[in-house]
Amino acid sequence: MLNITVLVSGGGTNLQAIIDGIENKTVTNTRIVSVISNNKGVKSLERAQKAGIPAECVSPKDYESREAFNEALLSKVNEYKPDLVVLAGFLVAIPKAMVEAYENRIINIHPSLIPSFCGVGYYGLKVHERALERGVKVTGATVHFVNEGMDEGPIIDQRAVYIEDNDTPEILQKRVMEQAEWIILPKAIDDIANGRLEVIDKRVIRK
Ligand code: GAR
Repeated sequence: MLNITVLVSGGGTNLQAIIDGIENKTVTNTRIVSVISNNKGVKSLERAQKAGIPAECVSPKDYESREAFNEALLSKVNEYKPDLVVLAGFLVAIPKAMVEAYENRIINIHPSLIPSFCGVGYYGLKVHERALERGVKVTGATVHFVNEGMDEGPIIDQRAVYIEDNDTPEILQKRVMEQAEWIILPKAIDDIANGRLEVIDKRVIRK
């Protein structure tokens, strides 16, 4: 059984896709042991509670320094001894100590086809704003392992989504979620839980 901790910041629709995947058995061998948010009062915490999953907030606002917050976040994650940490719309840079402690055991969902529209400053709606500004015709989502770089870890899966003429950032965000994120994130977890993936030379190989 793969025990996962899901880190969230907001709406939690990706968290919901994982909860639903476990419920309807498209994600097997997996249990969500905890959900941790950096923001108080967000819908993702509500979704976790409704599903009977321990849900807590570790907010930077409650700590004097970034270092103190980073330490608190890592010890909260450690409390539940997860096999895998899933960043499902977690819009905070992952502390170096966490990346080291969970090498190849943290995955992230990003709303573009990496290496486009990623890295520092590219998160949430901003990613879609930039894609529309640039006028690309295809975008999508990427699920990847997290390393010390921002959106630079080994890529697990990607799915393309077409941009349409009348898209706004909000419309595009929703389509990327529906057609890509909510599919490839649960699938990646199922693949990891069932031992189908291996990282070799910074690349993910399907066994
Ligand atoms: C999702 O689109 C996710 O890909 C993105 O934030 C949104 C969270 O939505 N993550 C990033 O931009 C990470 N760089 P959700 O809370 O409804 O899952």
